[in-house]
Amino acid sequence: MHLLWLHLFFHLFILINAYENIALRKPAWQRFPYSGRHWWGADRAVDGRYSDLSQYDNQCTISGNYHQVAEWRVDLQEVLSMHHIVIYYRTDNEPWGNPSKYSGRFLGFSVYISNTTNKEDGITCFKDRNFTRATIENPLTISCPNHGRYAIYYNNRTQPPFPSGYSTDGAYNEICEFEVYGCPTPGYYGENCSLSCPQNCQEGHCHIEDGTCLRCTYGYKGPTCNEQCNGKSY
Ligand SMILES: *[C@@H]1O[C@H](CO)[C@@H](O)[C@H](O)[C@H]1NC(C)=O
Ligand SMILES: *[C@@H]1O[C@H](CO)[C@@H](O)[C@H](O)[C@H]1NC(C)=O
Ligand SMILES: *[C@@H]1O[C@H](CO)[C@@H](O)[C@H](O)[C@H]1NC(C)=O
Ligand SMILES: *[C@@H]1O[C@H](CO)[C@@H](O)[C@H](O)[C@H]1NC(C)=O
Repeated sequence: MHLLWLHLFFHLFILINAYENIALRKPAWQRFPYSGRHWWGADRAVDGRYSDLSQYDNQCTISGNYHQVAEWRVDLQEVLSMHHIVIYYRTDNEPWGNPSKYSGRFLGFSVYISNTTNKEDGITCFKDRNFTRATIENPLTISCPNHGRYAIYYNNRTQPPFPSGYSTDGAYNEICEFEVYGCPTPGYYGENCSLSCPQNCQEGHCHIEDGTCLRCTYGYKGPTCNEQCNGKSY
């Protein structure tokens, strides 16, 4: 029994790590930068560095103080297929969880995937409604099997009273690293992004794990769009 779990865990672990971080060193942007502190800029969340989760080594994005809304995004520069996202939040290298003020700032965040810089044009791949300071993980892994060009982090402190444990001093981006794991080339899937999506998938897009088409080009049907429609039944 133990061996089986170990095996399963190991297998999952390998699977989860096989996709590539397609956000690494891509253009990033944030609303309300910390004024004058360009070394806490949006690009720090995609610089590949997260060994120091404090303000001191310039590895983290930090937004300006006392804003009601925080927003950050990375531009993958084309529509890519994603599998999951990993966020490393600021801790100041102190214990995480209940004692950390930063866990209270992380609470309530959302991640959107969009094809424009506007999050409202996209889909919500995660919205925190249930975490508490004690339960929110760091780093946090979010499943996000979607196609899109922009990954957008959003948080707000617009409507007091805030839920228990939420920060009351504003909304912040304090993202030390934001990793988007997926396939670097459109039209591929599988743990190594080495398999071509079936040829009749619309726009060549397929599910990143199993290669089923999201939609078929005209005249085809079935999960991999390899069955021809007989004219009327399309
Ligand atoms: C982005 O556009 C592609 C088509 O190019 C579409 O398949 C995908 O669903 C879109 N993503 C979002 C989040 O709207
Ligand atoms: C949050 O909790 C509610 C009620 O307990 C549950 O229905 C929902 O699935 C949870 N959402 C997440 C994202 O865990
Ligand atoms: C965030 O904004 C939404 C409406 O857009 C609101 O319902 C929610 O209460 C706000 N959250 C906080 C913590 O202010
Ligand atoms: C991915 O690569 C690993 C190691 O080279 C290999 O064992 C595995 O079969 C590959 N998977 C696919 C779906 O190509």
